[in-house]
Amino acid sequence: MNILIIYSHPSKQSYTFQVLEQLKELIAAQNWNLEISDLYEMGFQSDMTEAEYEREGLINTALPIPADVILEHQKIAKADAIIFIYPVWWSDCPAKMKGWFDRVYSVGYAYANDQSDAKMKTVPLGLAVCTAGHPNAFLDEIEIAKSMKTVFLNDRLGKRFENKEMLILGGTLDKEKVYDEHQIQIKSVIEKIKSYCS
Ligand SMILES: Cc1cc2nc3c(=O)[nH]c(=O)nc-3n(C[C@H](O)[C@H](O)[C@H](O)COP(=O)(O)O)c2cc1C
Repeated sequence: MNILIIYSHPSKQSYTFQVLEQLKELIAAQNWNLEISDLYEMGFQSDMTEAEYEREGLINTALPIPADVILEHQKIAKADAIIFIYPVWWSDCPAKMKGWFDRVYSVGYAYANDQSDAKMKTVPLGLAVCTAGHPNAFLDEIEIAKSMKTVFLNDRLGKRFENKEMLILGGTLDKEKVYDEHQIQIKSVIEKIKSYCS
């Protein structure tokens, strides 16, 4: 099994980093291959440049795809499951991860790819695992959970993933209260990978 994690958090002191570390241990215990794109650590360029826009926005596929984007395409090509790990910031992923989609989902690869042989494969499983300050019940009540799922699962992952789920680890302002529930959710990732990817 080949797992790819796309991780976006600037601090190793964060709760989100603890979630990453725990998932790394759980994946290692299965003897699965794991590759991690740690976007802050890599200094991943999240802004699209003017030259890149000329390829993406003006749909000029004769222009080259940037080397760092091709590296991400190669990681995706190997993956049976991709796990996106991030904190919820203003009801979405951090801008750095949003920039990963802006740039890695290049035209002819992730969309508008009818005649492209460089088309992105359909990944068996896409999982978003996000931490949030607000409790899940509140995110449900104000319909932010619904909108985060709609945007992330239906649009960003879209038809590029066969199976998709978002686990919201909410209520991080009072971690003791949510610890047990979060542990259940984090451990469930392994079972989800087994059931969707085998
Ligand atoms: C810039 C910023 C924006 C945030 N926006 C939200 C938000 O919209 N909804 C929410 O539930 N929590 C929000 N939070 C709280 C984070 O989701 C919370 O800090 C995270 O779940 C866990 O923290 P850690 O991994 O940074 O330690 C925000 C935090 C920051 C720093």
